[in-house]
Amino acid sequence: MLPSNRLRESLGYLNWLYNPFHGLDAAGIYDLLATSAATERGLYLNLGYWREATDLDAASDALAMLVGETARLGPADSVLDCGFGFGDQDILWAQTLKPGRIVGLNITASQVELARRRVAQLGLHEQIDLRQGSATDMPIESASVDKVVAVECAFHFRTREAFFREAWRVLRPGGRLVLADIIPAPRIGGFPARLEHRVSWRLVAGKFAIPPENAYTKPTYHAKLAMSGFEQIRVESIREHVYAPLHHFLAEHPQTLDRLHPMARLPAKLALRLEATSVYRGLDYVLASAVKPQQLPGASRRP
Ligand SMILES: C[S@@+](CC[C@H](N)C(=O)[O-])C[C@H]1O[C@@H](n2cnc3c(N)ncnc32)[C@H](O)[C@@H]1O
Repeated sequence: MLPSNRLRESLGYLNWLYNPFHGLDAAGIYDLLATSAATERGLYLNLGYWREATDLDAASDALAMLVGETARLGPADSVLDCGFGFGDQDILWAQTLKPGRIVGLNITASQVELARRRVAQLGLHEQIDLRQGSATDMPIESASVDKVVAVECAFHFRTREAFFREAWRVLRPGGRLVLADIIPAPRIGGFPARLEHRVSWRLVAGKFAIPPENAYTKPTYHAKLAMSGFEQIRVESIREHVYAPLHHFLAEHPQTLDRLHPMARLPAKLALRLEATSVYRGLDYVLASAVKPQQLPGASRRP
């Protein structure tokens, strides 16, 4: 990298992470992060599902598989993957669950470009079609896909509710929506716990472009899916298999963070000196699934 680009990158990190009056939109964040992911073998940007995983790549794969399996992806499916990062999960699903076709939408142009190259290099371009576009304004025909999935990204969407409506529109009747998503944890405990909750949520929401409209807990999440027309709704917290095990893994393997930009490494390493309970007090992590009804309201039940 040219010294002038390196300087611009460092100033970008400085302003993003250390200037309390400055935030970036989602595409700005991911352009800045570029490929400095903490994973070793892939380019995942998620926190992982640590129920059985023992390293970051395995945990990221496990999260993708949890979403793919909850969505029941299979050969008959046409899938829309929103917020696909560098496409790791699409490649994994194409190689394991083998859905007939995956279309991806991602707002960050730099990620789309690299993800498309990775897919082409693996000869998967006929199965996986990755495009630049927004999950809240999908350039996708109504009732044209069987599954809509979003791995750790819907918290960014402006708004998540707009995404629910779009997902409902593009799904065929009987189609399934599945998300792995970050929301605020319920506020429990006395003053110190409530303060930690507030700081933890505010820091993450402020630095990771989570609009205030997306800050609601599980019951509201469930209600918003129902209001968007979905049924068979499940919103389950999997936070115990995400935050604390990730924190413990990083504390035991701090060299993992050396793959991050030095400006991002510093706050990440400082956070490792605190208890996971405190750092993640304000955050819940949910696996949500819902189905578009077979019989739409107003449609006759008789042939
Ligand atoms: C935390 S990363 C997760 C990436 C990937 N799913 C993974 O697990 O590695 C969030 C992703 O959401 C994308 N994103 C954010 N807002 C979006 C929007 N409105 N529409 C589509 N993608 C969006 C970002 O570009 C980024 O790829």
